Amino acid sequence: MNILVAGGAGYIGSHTVIELIKAGHDVVIVDNLSNSSMIAVKRTEQITGKQIPFYEADIRDREKMETIFSAHKFDCCIHFAGLKAVGESVALPWEYYDNNINGTLVLLDVLRKNGCKNIIFSSSATVYGTPAIVPITEECPKGQCTNPYGQTKSMLEQIMTDMYHADNEWNMVFLRYFNPIGAHSSGIIGESPNGIPNNLMPYITQVAVGKLKELGVFGNDYDTPDGTGVRDYIHVVDLADGHVKALKVIENKGGLAVYNLGTGQGCSVLELVKAFEEANGVKIPYVIKPRRAGDVASCYSDPSKAERELGWKAKYGILDMCRDSWRWQKNNPRGFEE
Ligand code: NAD
Ligand code: UFG
Repeated sequence: MNILVAGGAGYIGSHTVIELIKAGHDVVIVDNLSNSSMIAVKRTEQITGKQIPFYEADIRDREKMETIFSAHKFDCCIHFAGLKAVGESVALPWEYYDNNINGTLVLLDVLRKNGCKNIIFSSSATVYGTPAIVPITEECPKGQCTNPYGQTKSMLEQIMTDMYHADNEWNMVFLRYFNPIGAHSSGIIGESPNGIPNNLMPYITQVAVGKLKELGVFGNDYDTPDGTGVRDYIHVVDLADGHVKALKVIENKGGLAVYNLGTGQGCSVLELVKAFEEANGVKIPYVIKPRRAGDVASCYSDPSKAERELGWKAKYGILDMCRDSWRWQKNNPRGFEE
């Protein structure tokens, strides 16, 4: 298929581009580089051995988007383009609603006007709010999101669902990601957060590389086996493969489908720290801190629907994820910064 990857220079997008090309698809990337670097695109080309058409454009820029569509005919769009920092979204709600909602509205309109009513959308486990049950199945009701970022994901799922009901020619797949970590085995692409990381794995790797002194563990009094927060960490390459498998829904004109992409295995903060130390022989000093506002105790998936319907299942374990995250960070202590 000929696939437009919006946000394809980013962390999950770049890994997905590699898996798409491996599976024989043709890819065009559009990205405004607001949270990524051209270096990532170049390295993705290095890994795949292919030249990848790249457009530096904002998906809100209708004119530029139309130019891209006049140069290419697409069978499907995989849509990663969005802002994703939870804390920042609380401080900059307008910017988040404008970028994520407005951007997606423009993208959807340009897609349908150009006869491409096929989209795979990056959603998030955040739409479940405080999950009513764990492991979380797709039947689990959506919950109250505690921040504008989460709201954008939940609202966009609703907007696209309404569009699908109004026009059944659309095929739409919402992939609800759990916690992506890890990096490509080459160690030349990975997650490159700006400033001090908010997420656990990049924080751990920056402690390991000596950029940060120690990890703060946000709470050890949750109702979990060791008191620390439990999440479903998934290797970004497995996640990327989930997108390739989700193309089945598009090929089969499957209408609207929702899948959790996770491993189904809960892992606590302290278990992840231990796994990282074991996989890499590096010590991660930590201190227990108060709980972080908005965090839930436990959030992990039941990924069996994706296995049943898409034949997708995560292959990598937590030690692989720790090893690959560390290889990337060790080889690129400043990420994509030059
Ligand atoms: P990322 O920031 O690395 O990638 C997003 C990419 O989109 C970046 O390259 C950015 O420059 C680009 N972008 C943002 N706004 C744009 C716009 N208006 N026009 C064009 N390009 C734009 O983030 P990621 O971790 O790769 O996440 C990809 C998607 O998955 C996002 O939509 C994110 O919300 C979602 N998601 C991520 C996680 C996670 O933990 N990483 C979890 C659940 C869902
Ligand atoms: N944690 C720490 N110390 C840190 C950072 C995190 O103890 O420095 C803990 C958190 O309290 C939590 C766990 O590590 O228990 C994971 O935290 P992350 O910030 O890595 O991930 P979250 O599950 O909070 O959030 C992620 C994405 C969100 C997305 C959500 C649900 O960052 O965008 O998963 O999919 F909405």
